[in-house]
Amino acid sequence: MENQSVGILVGSLRRDSFSKKVALYLSGLLEEQLNVTFLDIASLTMYNEDLDNESDTPQAWLDFRREVEAVDAVLFVTPEYNRSMPPVLKNALDIASRPVSANTWSGKPAAIVSVSPGQLGGFGANHHLRQSASVVNLYMMPQPEAYIGDIANSVDMYGVSGKRTQDFLQKFAGAFVDWINRFSK
Ligand code: FNR
Repeated sequence: MENQSVGILVGSLRRDSFSKKVALYLSGLLEEQLNVTFLDIASLTMYNEDLDNESDTPQAWLDFRREVEAVDAVLFVTPEYNRSMPPVLKNALDIASRPVSANTWSGKPAAIVSVSPGQLGGFGANHHLRQSASVVNLYMMPQPEAYIGDIANSVDMYGVSGKRTQDFLQKFAGAFVDWINRFSK
């Protein structure tokens, strides 16, 4: 059987993003069993329904929808902004959910890792994202949940360095591969 593919979305555009480091670490683990691509969400302009027609849809939206369509599964790694997901991530979710008849998320297995320098591990972002993921019919892995708090102490300039976090991410990646395989055709 051919490898399944997973697209990773990172909810932060920050150059030294903790979330990006966690996403890169996870991608290294997942690459052993999946084809991994990072889906760029930085170049997506804010969704405006007035533009979503046959002549005005921005090319970047069309490209992004095609990229989402092309992957078998989706992994979100995100920080929390004001107890919710960052707008860049919600925008990406909205763009690929339209038009409703061609919602490209629908039926794909998915998982969320939320990351924070604080103690709550981005719980609010994680669950707001779960709420939206549900209506676009992503099949979100229920367990293990991943709320990584105190992230500044688990990464260094090279990536994820904390052994406990590395071990947790290893387990999480294994569970995610199992979850994806449940849906493989
Ligand atoms: C934050 N931050 C934050 N952290 C948190 O745990 N809960 C929150 O609600 C918020 N709210 C928030 C709002 C805004 C606008 C910013 C810019 C930041 C802090 C945030 O977790 C921190 O900046 C992380 O480092 C951002 O993630 P990346 O960029 O390192 O991946």
